[in-house]
Amino acid sequence: MINVIGLGYIGLPTALMMASHGVEVIGTDYNKELVATLNEGKTTFKEKGLDELFKEAVVKGINFTTEYQTTDTYIISVPTPYDKFSKKVDPSYVIAAVKDVMKVCPKGATVVIESTVSPGTIDKYIRPIIKDINLVHAPERIIPGNMVYELLNNNRTIGADSREIGEKVKSYYASFCQGEIVVTDIRTAEMTKVVENTFRAVNIAFANELARICRHDNMDVYEIIRICNMHPRVNILQPGPGVGGHCISVDPWFLVGDYPQLAKVIDESMKTNDGQPSFVLERIYEIMKENGISDTGRVGLYGITYKENVDDIRESPTLQMLDIQERHLASPLKTFDPFFTDKAIVPNQILDFDQFLNEVDMVVIMVKHDHIKQRWDKLRGKVIIDCHNVCPIGERVYHI
Ligand SMILES: NC(=O)c1ccc[n+]([C@@H]2O[C@H](COP(=O)([O-])OP(=O)(O)OC[C@H]3O[C@@H](n4cnc5c(N)ncnc54)[C@H](O)[C@@H]3O)[C@@H](O)[C@H]2O)c1
Repeated sequence: MINVIGLGYIGLPTALMMASHGVEVIGTDYNKELVATLNEGKTTFKEKGLDELFKEAVVKGINFTTEYQTTDTYIISVPTPYDKFSKKVDPSYVIAAVKDVMKVCPKGATVVIESTVSPGTIDKYIRPIIKDINLVHAPERIIPGNMVYELLNNNRTIGADSREIGEKVKSYYASFCQGEIVVTDIRTAEMTKVVENTFRAVNIAFANELARICRHDNMDVYEIIRICNMHPRVNILQPGPGVGGHCISVDPWFLVGDYPQLAKVIDESMKTNDGQPSFVLERIYEIMKENGISDTGRVGLYGITYKENVDDIRESPTLQMLDIQERHLASPLKTFDPFFTDKAIVPNQILDFDQFLNEVDMVVIMVKHDHIKQRWDKLRGKVIIDCHNVCPIGERVYHI
């Protein structure tokens, strides 16, 4: 039996996937409300295919509890934020979970850490608190919005101290994963996960920097990227209003924190990406002036989540913009998001799309949800800032 510890965006789909493929699974989370919701038969976040997977896993006998189980295998998928001051990984959640596992697990059990950690974290923080158990690191690569498909199809990495343990854990993942599963050592597995997200962050930063250069001298960044990408060895990403989520905006900081004298490009890239919400705010200000809009209350941000078609708001560029605005004591911008409607977190949001449009003269497309792509007509007559180059309306559409 596998006890999955931490039933959030990663732990829940992983537990459901294993259970629906015939592995005996008990999911544990210390959040009582979350466990109660799951036990009522409801999922805790929106994700394509998750409800169907949930039903299948329940039929196959998955259980949810707040208690740690005595068993031979654990998968830990608790948060790993970074310390905003030192930039280093904050391993405290993983340490706490492993300590609790140690209280109930038998000798010889295997503890798989799925949480993303910086290279060396397991040696430094986890090894000293364990005894007579096998440690494995199996970082997760799935992307919110396509998690179920990617859980089934992505290649994955398993880092273990011995080939035997690595192969044993590989067989659990192979119960559902159709991608290639590479077995390596723990430190290499730690580093690969962080490097993958750093690669993405640096490349996004390059596109964002190009957008700023092109804006400065009035060049069309999208046309330039399109033409450059016709080169057989060039593949530039698209600029955007900022980077959010729990991976690309967080993990590269681990390398900056651990190797401050070496990770210079990474440091600058992260600062560039973090500066995008301010850059968009400046663009809003310029375009308001150009169009005679003087009241920021008549400007609406479309999209609160950090990416399209998900309800995850962690590190969201829209929230970063609202925060910067608030700190400048400006009257708040309006917001709307079909996926995120919690007024306790974003009080100034409007829940009805038509009402949102009635109350604004300018719409800033922060997130390219499918919802807006099916309703372009409703935006006619508005001033639009399209942060993703997706709006097909010809008139009064500006880019970042
Ligand atoms: N979200 C993603 O897209 C993504 C992708 C790849 C990797 N990761 C990594 O996966 C890990 C988990 O991320 P997430 O997005 O699932 O986080 P999350 O915040 O959605 O979920 C974590 C869950 O763990 C629970 N928890 C925390 N400490 C616990 C403890 N000691 N005992 C029991 N439960 C505990 C929390 O209540 C929460 O429900 C992180 O390291 C993250 O970097 C996330």
